[in-house]
Amino acid sequence: MSPVSVRAAAKINLHLGVGAVRPDGFHPLDTVYQAISLHDEVTVERAAGWSLTMTTAEYVDAAGIPLDDSNLVSRAAALLGGPGATVSIRKRIPVAGGMAGGSADAAAALVALDRLWDVQTPPQRMAELAAELGSDVPFALVGGTAHGIGRGEVVGPVDDPGAWWWVVVPAAVGLSTPEVYRRFDELRPDAGDPTPSDAVLRALTSTDPALLAQVLHNDLEPAVLDLRPELVDVIAAGQAAGALRGMVSGSGPTCVFLCSDETSAEVVAERLRASYDVVLTARGPVPGAIGS
Ligand code: C5P
Repeated sequence: MSPVSVRAAAKINLHLGVGAVRPDGFHPLDTVYQAISLHDEVTVERAAGWSLTMTTAEYVDAAGIPLDDSNLVSRAAALLGGPGATVSIRKRIPVAGGMAGGSADAAAALVALDRLWDVQTPPQRMAELAAELGSDVPFALVGGTAHGIGRGEVVGPVDDPGAWWWVVVPAAVGLSTPEVYRRFDELRPDAGDPTPSDAVLRALTSTDPALLAQVLHNDLEPAVLDLRPELVDVIAAGQAAGALRGMVSGSGPTCVFLCSDETSAEVVAERLRASYDVVLTARGPVPGAIGS
């Protein structure tokens, strides 16, 4: 059988409401995910044994990626339990950047290996395997725009008829997600239930970027900015360059900027390139691993 390639899209949390830590160590979320056109590509081929290789964009910190059994892609393969495969990943999503790149690769590997080995895993079982791999892997399977609750793993589709343009500014060094959540716990000892996503869900149906810009919300942003104060300047620079709104993506440290349209995104990106080495543009929503 010929190789199977599946796209693994990065995500942005348009709304990330975070509640008080649960007894199991996870935080309850009320979030709206959007998959964007910045993506990795996972290619699998039949083989007797198992191998995992990676090629990375020049701005991706390859040293931060494990290639052993702890890699989420290897764990995805173990869960499916097929005969063997060579897996290669073309990586463009920043590592430990708050864009769920590792989760997207895992979801893409589940889909690609399922096709390669013709396992025909039922959709519900795929979602369960994805949830075992990580809180945002189920979203990476479906992509598009989705509402997430639980620890983020319970996802349902959201009406999102717009085309949204983003500028993405990765940081040179990633952040550990557990560390960001720990800082959230310190800064927000009073946290109760996660703030609801309603305002973002309403703004999406308007297809108006100016309305969405007003209601973008990330409860982890204060924790990220406390750990990386220099990101305050990045967000201010993007907004001064013409973005409607800048924010930290998920658990950071990547910063994302919503722009009014494609042309504006190109202008904002070009202006930011005067001060920042790596500035990307992306469009959302795009399909998840299942639809690619
Ligand atoms: O689910 P995942 O393995 O991606 O989560 C990584 C870490 O992020 C968890 O071990 C936990 O520390 C933190 N996390 C959390 N609450 C969530 C999701 C993740 O505290 N809803």
